[in-house]
Amino acid sequence: MSKLTAPAVRARKVRAGGDPLVMLTAYDAPGARIVDEAGADLILVGDSLAMVVLGYDDTLQVTIDDMAHHVAAVARAKPRALVIGDLPWLSYHVSVEDTVRNAAALIKAGAQAVKLEGGAKRVPMVESIIAAEMPVMGHIGLTPQSMHAFGGYKVQGRDRSAALQLVDDARALEAVGCFSIVMECVPDEVARMVTDAVEVPTIGIGAGPHCDGQVLVFHDVLGIEDRITPKFVRRYGSVKEDAVAALSSFASDVRTRRFPADDESYHLNVETAEALGLYGSATKTA
Ligand code: KIV
Repeated sequence: MSKLTAPAVRARKVRAGGDPLVMLTAYDAPGARIVDEAGADLILVGDSLAMVVLGYDDTLQVTIDDMAHHVAAVARAKPRALVIGDLPWLSYHVSVEDTVRNAAALIKAGAQAVKLEGGAKRVPMVESIIAAEMPVMGHIGLTPQSMHAFGGYKVQGRDRSAALQLVDDARALEAVGCFSIVMECVPDEVARMVTDAVEVPTIGIGAGPHCDGQVLVFHDVLGIEDRITPKFVRRYGSVKEDAVAALSSFASDVRTRRFPADDESYHLNVETAEALGLYGSATKTA
């Protein structure tokens, strides 16, 4: 199957007969291979990297260099899925020049598109990235890089004016050329209004079933991250539990000398063993 492109994603609107888009995050080459083999359409190298991989408490700590490092690792897996690099906080807030340079850093690292957070107020930055020939995915609703401004991780768009603002934000991002829009933590009725209002696909996370696609974080879906469980996460695995059990078995086998076994060890040939005076203690061919 051929590589998915941003224009192909742009055309995947459910009301036009498209299948819902599947997006998952990945942060390294094995993760990208797993997501790609599972048939995802899009791989987001999200700034959630900060929390699920690098151990920070929020997403504000990652840099463009961190993001480029992990985008490159994902791109080396050569996935069929479209790879999107997430622009971290402050990489698209200072100036247009800075924004274009930072978006280009992720594209040069191997992404085919970039994502940034915010609605209408981001139009000049989105415009400048698109003018430099790089596809942009928008992100509205709960934008985690705004956690201090929002006063925490809160569902957005709950009242009339906030709901209508989300519709306006989505229309502004569409008008300036975003090929799709992530919508995070908004009531499903509002997500439906936004999805109905634009021609580009919406991809929801905590935004109910009416979006044109869904995205979840790799570590949440697989149960690698088991400390926080937002309401919108469905776990399809218990990889952390399985990994702890497997590694405990390894530790126990080492301590009880059941690992390594004879057939997991290399051996000298008989002549060399004899020449070393090891008389029959090592008798197999390496
Ligand atoms: O960084 C991330 O993983 C994201 C998704 C939650 C959409 O932005």
